[in-house]
Amino acid sequence: MEITIIYFSQTGQTRKVAEAMAAGLREKKHSVRLSAIQDVDQGDIKKCDLLGVGSPCFESQAPSAVKTWIRTWPVIQNKPAFVFATTGGAPGLVLYDLTNELRKKGAKVIGGFMSRGMVHHPAPCLIGRLPNRPNAKDLSEARTFALAAEKHLKSGDTGTMPESRPDALKPTLGFYQLVGLIAKPFLLRIILPKPKLIKSLCNQCQLCAKECPVQSITLAPDPVIDGRCIRCYHCQNICPQKALNESWWYGNLVILSLYNTIFSRLFGDLKREEKIY
Ligand SMILES: Cc1cc2nc3c(=O)[nH]c(=O)nc-3n(C[C@H](O)[C@H](O)[C@H](O)COP(=O)(O)O)c2cc1C
Repeated sequence: MEITIIYFSQTGQTRKVAEAMAAGLREKKHSVRLSAIQDVDQGDIKKCDLLGVGSPCFESQAPSAVKTWIRTWPVIQNKPAFVFATTGGAPGLVLYDLTNELRKKGAKVIGGFMSRGMVHHPAPCLIGRLPNRPNAKDLSEARTFALAAEKHLKSGDTGTMPESRPDALKPTLGFYQLVGLIAKPFLLRIILPKPKLIKSLCNQCQLCAKECPVQSITLAPDPVIDGRCIRCYHCQNICPQKALNESWWYGNLVILSLYNTIFSRLFGDLKREEKIY
């Protein structure tokens, strides 16, 4: 079987899940193309027998850049597909968002998988949550899910996989789903601080401009972040000089009020016994 797995990953957690899925499928002698969404060859999307698409969760939804990328893909009428995500425990709409975008392209989404992923959001109340996730168990579950998707397809069943998370295929109602619906990029730009350059630390290496998922950084010759910034803080996470930073008093309070561990346990999917820090 020809399988294409496409992922978006800022800090490597979703990539690990995608790699575990690909490794499992390759062991079964399938031909698997694994690609970061930024580098995808659209031919690989069209010609595969099974498509997997994964991303992290941002603000209880799929990152806006991911949705925009999928919208540029060709129509893939009735292409069997699965979705996957890594999250910090408040997933909201992320899986359904991916499903929804794929369905708009004509894909037949058969299931969805979710794993934990260590949080690198710089808000003081979030950073470092879920250390070392996905762990070996998470990756083994990802592998098992991908093999189940392949088996499901081989059996000729085009319905939903029994192994799928229900929220991958139909919209569910809840606190974080509501947050995901409300937290549109224009609102995030008002609520969350934009990274600021510490001029004395920047060596103009250009990495931030190259890696920004929405191309909101230009070099003049120092990095300038424009109004398209989606507050993903990727530039800050990857800057080797630690030359980007922002003040977190107000934004941190907003994030803490929505994504505190009590709410994430009550309304998200953090388990009571789960180690958060
Ligand atoms: C900007 C940003 C926003 C995030 N928002 C959420 C969220 O709303 N809910 C959640 O469960 N996790 C959230 N996270 C955590 C990530 O989804 C999680 O750490 C994921 O595993 C990161 O995957 P990656 O390393 O592939 O980018 C957020 C992380 C960042 C950086």
